[in-house]
Amino acid sequence: MLGKFVYSNPTKLYFGENSLENLPQELACYGKNVMLVYGGGSIKKNGIYENVVKLLRDGGKTVFEDAGVMPNPTLEKLYEGCRIAKENKVDLILAVGGGSVCDYAKAVSVSAYCETDPWEKYYLRMEAVDNKIIPVGCVLTMVGTGSEMNAGSVITNEKTKQKIGHVFEDEKIMPRFSILNPRFTMTLPHYQMTAGIYDIFNHICEQYFSDTDDNTSDYISEGLMRSLIHSSKIANKDPQDYEARSNIMWTATWALNTLVACGKSTDWMVHMLGQAVGGYTNATHGMTLAAVSLPYYRHIMPYGLEKFKRFAVNVWGVDASEKEDREIAEEGLAAMESWMKELGLVMNLSELGVTEEMIEGIADVTIVFDTGYKKLDRTEIIDIFRESLI
Ligand code: NZQ
Ligand code: ZN
Repeated sequence: MLGKFVYSNPTKLYFGENSLENLPQELACYGKNVMLVYGGGSIKKNGIYENVVKLLRDGGKTVFEDAGVMPNPTLEKLYEGCRIAKENKVDLILAVGGGSVCDYAKAVSVSAYCETDPWEKYYLRMEAVDNKIIPVGCVLTMVGTGSEMNAGSVITNEKTKQKIGHVFEDEKIMPRFSILNPRFTMTLPHYQMTAGIYDIFNHICEQYFSDTDDNTSDYISEGLMRSLIHSSKIANKDPQDYEARSNIMWTATWALNTLVACGKSTDWMVHMLGQAVGGYTNATHGMTLAAVSLPYYRHIMPYGLEKFKRFAVNVWGVDASEKEDREIAEEGLAAMESWMKELGLVMNLSELGVTEEMIEGIADVTIVFDTGYKKLDRTEIIDIFRESLI
């Protein structure tokens, strides 16, 4: 393990059935004014809203609602949230929903008191926060992003078709607490459940496919991936299987709370390609990743062959005896492809509404990192998008 790192994660987690009963003790730590942030209404249908509002009222809170946070939250919505937070001097932002709601809450948290335009400051110039931060707490209802225990926040600028994530350095931007009840995820449509599962898997891949040193983080990643593959197959057949859903929830949190990035340079190019597609199409995050992953990984495999071979053997159980390295690595990706198809993931960009004519424009907004096994140039990006089309 050759890299240097600092590890600190202050988010307090309450995990399991009935974990919502811990909300009052957390609410007691903050002032009276609570901004309740949620999405398009799923929490009203499944009863979570009613339970949370009762606990807020019992705790003597004045509640300011900010509903309608859309999947892939927009900059326009962020400006609205900042107004609500500032006008009402909120003491806590309580996010009840999936990654979009949690990400949005964090964006409001750092932007409400920002004196310049938050899009330019945080998403274009990637500056650190130097103004007041409003604390955020989460009640998670959709599993995938890891937003419940990280400092990431992804916002989409619809005008420029840019979808950009900022992983803030300051740990005060991480949720102060997150309530994780696997039962709350049971009402998710199958499409969202599997998109979330692939998001988790890809978060681990993004951190695993970099560097060549012997690193404990990679061994942890392999364990997380094996657990996820196992539980996802069970949940795919029976979404009401609590044990499988709880394992998936826990894996999601560890997949992106910085642990498995310790000592790693990390890649993140599948996310850059997927986010560029998301900015153009507003497609579901996990599905954008699924659609571009195999063309991307097959393209970079020769540059990180040792790791792809290890992935095949340690994650997918490929028998390596009497085979060439490349053959072993390819068998690993083939096993991954079968699993993705078994889950019913979207395997091409056409299904997400991407056309050949859009590809140049999507390539224009693709951010390129140089920390994985191969730095992509524009031609390679366009080739990968073309291969992902069908
Ligand atoms: O809006 P409602 O009505 O709540 O419906 C949501 C939404 O339509 C629904 N849903 C959530 N919980 C439900 C439910 N439906 C029924 N029952 C429930 N219990 O699911 C839909 C998708 O929700 P969303 O929050 O958009 O999904 P997800 O958690 O995948 O979040 C996606 C956003 O997170 C960003 C993505 O880019 C995207 O903007 N990401 C954030 C990251 C981070 N903070 O580190 C990293 C990720 O890579 C990702 O980029
Ligand atoms: Zn993701």
